[in-house]
Amino acid sequence: IVGDYNGNLRPQVHYSPPTGFMNDPNGMFVDDTGLYHLYYQYNPTDTVAGNVHWGHATSRDLYTWENQRIAIFPGAPGEQIFSGSAVVDPNNTSGFFPNQTNGVVAFYTLLNPNGVQTQDVAYSTDGGYAFTKYSGNPVLDANSTQFRDPKVIWHTETGSWIMVTAFAQEYTISIWTSPNLREWTFASNFSHHGLLGLQYECPNLVQIPMNGSDDPMYILYISINPGAPLGGSVGQYFPGHFNGTHFTPVDSAARIADFGKDNYAGQFFYGVPGTQHQISIAWASNWQYTNLVPTASEGWRSAMSAPRRNYLANVTDRIPYQLISEPYEVQSMFSEELAFNDSLANGSVFVDYSVLQSGALYFEANVTGLTETSLTGTLNFTLSSVISGEVLRGGTTIGGDTWLDRGKTSGFDNVYFTDKFSVTGLYDGAGEWRISGIIDRTIIELFVNGGEQSATSIFFPSSPLDTMILRAGGIDGSATVSVGVWGLRSGWL
Ligand code: FRU
Repeated sequence: IVGDYNGNLRPQVHYSPPTGFMNDPNGMFVDDTGLYHLYYQYNPTDTVAGNVHWGHATSRDLYTWENQRIAIFPGAPGEQIFSGSAVVDPNNTSGFFPNQTNGVVAFYTLLNPNGVQTQDVAYSTDGGYAFTKYSGNPVLDANSTQFRDPKVIWHTETGSWIMVTAFAQEYTISIWTSPNLREWTFASNFSHHGLLGLQYECPNLVQIPMNGSDDPMYILYISINPGAPLGGSVGQYFPGHFNGTHFTPVDSAARIADFGKDNYAGQFFYGVPGTQHQISIAWASNWQYTNLVPTASEGWRSAMSAPRRNYLANVTDRIPYQLISEPYEVQSMFSEELAFNDSLANGSVFVDYSVLQSGALYFEANVTGLTETSLTGTLNFTLSSVISGEVLRGGTTIGGDTWLDRGKTSGFDNVYFTDKFSVTGLYDGAGEWRISGIIDRTIIELFVNGGEQSATSIFFPSSPLDTMILRAGGIDGSATVSVGVWGLRSGWL
């Protein structure tokens, strides 16, 4: 499938579909050659949600994507292929792969014409490009219209496959086990935890390292839509332990994954060893306005987040088990240094990036040499369009709050497209305070202290942003400010 990636609104280091409408990432896995596979909820015939297929793209670096043919099609009028996951079955536990070690099994929700949602299986003998639907489908049928989004992992200790599914409107994540990926046995429910909103969707259960500890931890990640605190869609997660049948959270708190409004249905890649980190991608949009955003003028809607490197860490004793989320190896996309100053003190740098063909940037602003008594001052950034005067801005107070304001890019006006976001951080005693971000034409991802906090936000300037100012003010004289801005090479052009 060919797409035109030249449009002013098209992200250059984020995945977006060739044409049509995209929502959740699905089936993500890394194969035995290191190739990453991304499938996604895809309407190939319109720029609004519906008529859902599984689109497919592949990447070696998670920023440069190659579109592949549609992987899974609805089989009959009125059917849709809803969200799910995929695994590699090297030992042929499924029986689908007598002659190979790279067989791929996909799990998806079939929306049946009568509205019932069942969990179905399809398998691929060519490494994940073409899929055959299993003749024994469905593999799970609860005669429910709100039962979906199977995510499967392998559990080494019990030698068993594990699936999590959502009974969306009962606020229940069910855990299932299987020896062969076809026959699933109910193991336990995780119900009514954290924020409820109006539905639970797209659960993920994944092993994840805890910084400074050998404790084999898991997180259970649950997406909520509608009913997020900021409106629409949001992701929450629970750190805890998993014994093969039951998940036990470390505490009863709901932790929010992102302080923007455009990070939903996040999924972790299958096949990442998980001893150092996990890698995830989320859908960078919100159901409140996704069908209305102005990119339809270019024939497409929705992009994915940048790939994130994830692990758990105690930011401070007061903030235990935080899910750290930072861009995964974004340095591999640097094309040029646009500004660098490692002794800025209080002052600013100005970058004119109108000549940068990709229009995509990465920046960092870092204050080092901090102590408990020198936590003063701010780091702020402003991106603007010389032509239209539109502005995207944000900043952080050293040791405190971080904010983002997308409101002065005026190419999209919608009451639910709220414009200002903020979060409160806590100084962790490490002597530094840092913000960084990826800005890619119509999407910004902002990070505090290497991913202790993150915000994903889409924005729609009517003419491209082309200048950036980074400013440090009120910083204590004993601290050092360094800033850098790099252009990112386009993955498409
Ligand atoms: C989440 C979701 C899933 C469902 C899919 C349909 O965004 O509602 O629960 O499987 O989208 O496209």
